[in-house]
Amino acid sequence: MRTPPMGWMSWERFHCNIDCENDPKNCISENLFRGMADRLAEDGWKEMGYDHVMIDDCWSSMLRDKDGRLQPDPQRFPGGIAKLARYLHNRGLKLGIYGDLGTHTCGGYPGTTLDKIETDAQMFASWGVDFLKLDGCYSNEEEQQKGYPLMSKALNATGRPIGYSCSWPAYRGGLLPSVNYTLLGEICNLWRNYDDIQDSWDSVQEITDWFFDNQEILQPGRWNDPDMPVYMDQSRSQMALWAIMAAPLIMSNNLRTLSNHGLYTKFTVYSPFLCLYVTLFFLQKRSHIEVYWRPLSQSASALVFLSRRQDMPYHYHTSLAKLNYTAGSYKAYDVFTGKTLSGLSATTEFTVSIDPSGVVMWYVYPRIQRSTTTISGFTLP
Ligand code: DGJ
Repeated sequence: MRTPPMGWMSWERFHCNIDCENDPKNCISENLFRGMADRLAEDGWKEMGYDHVMIDDCWSSMLRDKDGRLQPDPQRFPGGIAKLARYLHNRGLKLGIYGDLGTHTCGGYPGTTLDKIETDAQMFASWGVDFLKLDGCYSNEEEQQKGYPLMSKALNATGRPIGYSCSWPAYRGGLLPSVNYTLLGEICNLWRNYDDIQDSWDSVQEITDWFFDNQEILQPGRWNDPDMPVYMDQSRSQMALWAIMAAPLIMSNNLRTLSNHGLYTKFTVYSPFLCLYVTLFFLQKRSHIEVYWRPLSQSASALVFLSRRQDMPYHYHTSLAKLNYTAGSYKAYDVFTGKTLSGLSATTEFTVSIDPSGVVMWYVYPRIQRSTTTISGFTLP
């Protein structure tokens, strides 16, 4: 998985809603996933890279079948998972599924105990699953120590490429020495860390604080998953921060009612090239303004100016030299306004106006770079 996965996942918005009788449009069922697949395929998301549809918890039957295999709930998934996978594949999409390394999933459905790892991996592969999120409820440290590497082997043994997201660190506090990031980097494609995201700016800030406070511990150059981007007033800020973290972009919005997806699609072009480089953050706190920096290819870099203020737009004065840029002449492309600032030397003083809880995001590149340079399908002005 050379770039962070993108797509849609049911959890944050739809949780464990299994009430198809009273809420048929929003319950965890094959209709929900087909419907979201249609949106991804027909509304331009897929072309932007949002190509995974991921089933989270509460999809299975309360019992395994007579041969000990997981089976989907027959009322809510009457066509079965393989048919749903075909539906997605026919539209150029991929299917993700959820499992839990423990006796039960967090929602109380059958879990994948150590003796069931191979069976479940084989089952997922035979259904045509392309991605597995393996949660960690109802398992202890020793079981996790054995189980997460074993599932990695079992998935590889199926011969089917299956992206593997491990929730292991989220269950061990996410820090050293409890979490072995070197091992995680070898066995998992990405891993969840810290608390589940909520639909609130507080939650986005808590997650951001935790990730940036612990940036030196978190494995650089791999996919740390801070959970789903959510859509709210501060979405723009979250997207800028997530992009500069090179986070996976897996939505959980109700795509049927989301009117403005320009924000999400804007970032698809940034993600592939942001993610290729080791994460390195420069943090400057002043007047509740923070500046995040990330080096990119071709001597370019990304800057995010984030306001933690809650009062009014703040005019932040600085220069590239103050942000550790070396002497030279630069251009700065404002990701959200689409305007380019040229003739910027390292010592030029400039002012950015940042809304409360808002961001200004710049793509900074040397002036001599050819003006028509295309990076990941995005033509610079
Ligand atoms: C806990 C995880 O962190 C969530 O993302 C979600 O998968 C739930 N479990 C499902 O029960």
